[in-house]
Amino acid sequence: MPNKKAVRFSPASIGVSPFLNSVVLYAAVWYMSHSLFNQLLIMLYLEQGSDMREREHWKNRSIFIMAAIGSAIGLGNMWRFPYIAAQNGGGAFLVPYFVALITAGIPLMIIEYGLGIRTQGSANIALGAIKKPLRFIGWFAILSAFTINIYYCMVLGWTWNFLFDMGDLHQWAATAASSKKHFFNDILHISGGPWEFRKIHWQLFSGLFITWLVIWAIIKSGLSGIGKILLFTVPFPVILVLILLVRGLTLDGASTGLNYYLSPNWPQLSNSKVWLAAYGQVFFSLSVGFGTMITYSSFMPRDTELPNSAAITSFSNCCFSFLAGLAIFSVLGYFAVASNTTMQEITQGGPGLAFVVYPAALAKLPIWIKFFGLLFFITLLLLGIDSAFSLLETVSAALSDKFDFTRAKSSTIVAVISFIMGLPFATSAGLYWLDIIDHFVMSYAITFVAIIQCIAVGWILGAKTFTTEVNKNAEIKIGPIFTFMIKFLTPGILTYTMITSLIEEIKTPYEGYPLNSILAIGIGTLSLIALFSLILSCVNTKNDEEREAEVNKILMEAG
Ligand code: PHE
Repeated sequence: MPNKKAVRFSPASIGVSPFLNSVVLYAAVWYMSHSLFNQLLIMLYLEQGSDMREREHWKNRSIFIMAAIGSAIGLGNMWRFPYIAAQNGGGAFLVPYFVALITAGIPLMIIEYGLGIRTQGSANIALGAIKKPLRFIGWFAILSAFTINIYYCMVLGWTWNFLFDMGDLHQWAATAASSKKHFFNDILHISGGPWEFRKIHWQLFSGLFITWLVIWAIIKSGLSGIGKILLFTVPFPVILVLILLVRGLTLDGASTGLNYYLSPNWPQLSNSKVWLAAYGQVFFSLSVGFGTMITYSSFMPRDTELPNSAAITSFSNCCFSFLAGLAIFSVLGYFAVASNTTMQEITQGGPGLAFVVYPAALAKLPIWIKFFGLLFFITLLLLGIDSAFSLLETVSAALSDKFDFTRAKSSTIVAVISFIMGLPFATSAGLYWLDIIDHFVMSYAITFVAIIQCIAVGWILGAKTFTTEVNKNAEIKIGPIFTFMIKFLTPGILTYTMITSLIEEIKTPYEGYPLNSILAIGIGTLSLIALFSLILSCVNTKNDEEREAEVNKILMEAG
């Protein structure tokens, strides 16, 4: 790989107008860094406490739904979904995925929307309003969002790196082996295991830094700023995916990929790990179980229509996932045929699938290789940005709700801490950490939150109270099916799959990682999330009391 280092992350490698590109990029980064620095100074020296703030609101219901769709549609659809599907038997995965969507995804989306709208608060307040100890679950969800955003932004950081490497895509992606080398060695500088950090690599550091700067600037701009960004980041990637889809479907060999993607592999369905992975993927993809949808809906007035909005969000996300799957697997099929291998063989890359095999497949296209490469990575970036800022907003709004910080202050605190905590992901051991933490948080933490949310609403608040409240403004009424799901079916299935997978997990450590890394990184992260959730839910602030009193008053008045 000749002089790779000099090329990567140089905007010149895009080749359109190198000088202009560099000037624009560096000016933007300089400007945003400068305003970040100013914000830190303001926070240190000037800011005073204030009375409780007026809650911001989305401009209208369409913007709210768009924000929710923006959060849901993300890297989860194009990066995570294909490799999770491949790890869990390929075609086998679609069946549990759809079952999970119906039995858990949509009911939880309704629960989260309902909780946010009725309490006008973040997850800690929304759940705490049902019963005080449930504040803990609220924080557990929020801190899980905080944790996944730390590595989510690193994946966006890789994407920036790839974008700047498009100039010579045809060289580094010429074969599967060279594409693998490009991703693992040239981008990630991967080491032999999770404890071999070596150093922080500056390209990864820069990618991570730019990502945080961008999402911080967006969140700081408030709901009206976010609304404007969404008008671009939601529709645009959908158009780009449609272009990639048409390209994919018209390639020779597309059917090989589609067969692999679409034909169910029934024996796999008896494996509880496959089911847990499907539930985890649905939660990740719909952004439920993290408190994100609670936060987003808390910016809507209390008389907002709900079940239909939840259905629109879930349905859009699910259609997009399906289309993105077609786009990816058709190109992978083309690659399998062109390079004389099987789908099973090429889909083994785990989190590297979208970054190794897909570019290698693009490099085999007859024409417009760089164009489609650029299109793919811009799509990833745009998809991921609005999900990443929804995760930041989840944590930042919760801090504002608890400590009465301004939006600028809490988003700055969260962004700076998350960026620093993301640095291990920019080392040579980053991918291992990402893989282990993602597995444990997604399979266990979020499933746990989902189970308790169902119990909290179904049993403690009472499914009847909840459905009556929701149905007041509903376009589609929810009824006994919803009640049956949240009281029995969803928590039942989730508890069963979680326990059976836990037993298997103890027998065979995830992906063959050394047991000490599983314990320290995976279980360690879960324990830290639990510990900090406990601290945050036990420390009472003035705002906590006022917010809870206010929520109870509103709920009493509403009867
Ligand atoms: N749903 C996003 C995606 O698919 C990820 C996400 C998860 C965003 C949780 C917010 C909350 O990429």
